[in-house]
Amino acid sequence: MKKTVLTIAALTLLATTAQARTWDEIKQSGTIKIATEGAFPPFNILEGKKLTGFEVELAENLAKELGLKVQWVTQPFDNLLIGLQQNRYDFVIASHGITPQRAKAVDFSNPHYCTGGAIVAKPGGPLTAADLAGKSVAVQVGTTYLENVRKVSGVGDVKTFPKDTDAQAALMAGRVDAWVGDKFTGLDLVKAQKGKVKAGALLFNERIAMAVKKGNSSLLKELNSALDKSLNNGSYAKISSKYFGEDVRCR
Ligand code: ARG
Repeated sequence: MKKTVLTIAALTLLATTAQARTWDEIKQSGTIKIATEGAFPPFNILEGKKLTGFEVELAENLAKELGLKVQWVTQPFDNLLIGLQQNRYDFVIASHGITPQRAKAVDFSNPHYCTGGAIVAKPGGPLTAADLAGKSVAVQVGTTYLENVRKVSGVGDVKTFPKDTDAQAALMAGRVDAWVGDKFTGLDLVKAQKGKVKAGALLFNERIAMAVKKGNSSLLKELNSALDKSLNNGSYAKISSKYFGEDVRCR
């Protein structure tokens, strides 16, 4: 019994102190391990066994640029950056906004898109920050939406959900007064629900980036240069227009 406990403790220590794979090691293996959530349309979605979405196609384009095969790993959103610390994969692409707090734990690439957090509510519901006073709001746990909604003065109950789609469902079921999430997701929701919900104000803007393990500068450099190429050779624009009908790069 005692021995088992010790072994597990030793393994945990090993996993957390071990180095992330450097660019040379990844290149030599021929395959890059990328993690995402797979539940955040239209950015990363697991449909049956197939991963699709803007970030999935973009990451595959970057890997191709780098001459690598891709091995995808899906994890609940809230676990993604922890798995990175534990060297379970090489990088994460899952719509993480660059925040000072996250930047203490991981290193961010250059942003791969720019967006914001927006309010969606049923007709007659809250559509501005001021309207949120006393109202209940649904957000995905561990997100910048949660952080920013909490700052809205007088906001009522803020309910968190493991997945963004669960937070949307809570709004549709009338269990909350509003949902706050990505502005592009919000537009898709309004479109899909035809008149049942309305798009409200933007609460904040954010720059979204890929994350590597803190200190993995060799991989970060390659990712940034592949992103630059994609932005400059038309690949990025093509993938972006497929999902958004516009170019969502940061300007
Ligand atoms: N952009 C928001 C953030 O930075 C939400 C990201 C959610 N991503 C996801 N794959 N569910 O926290």
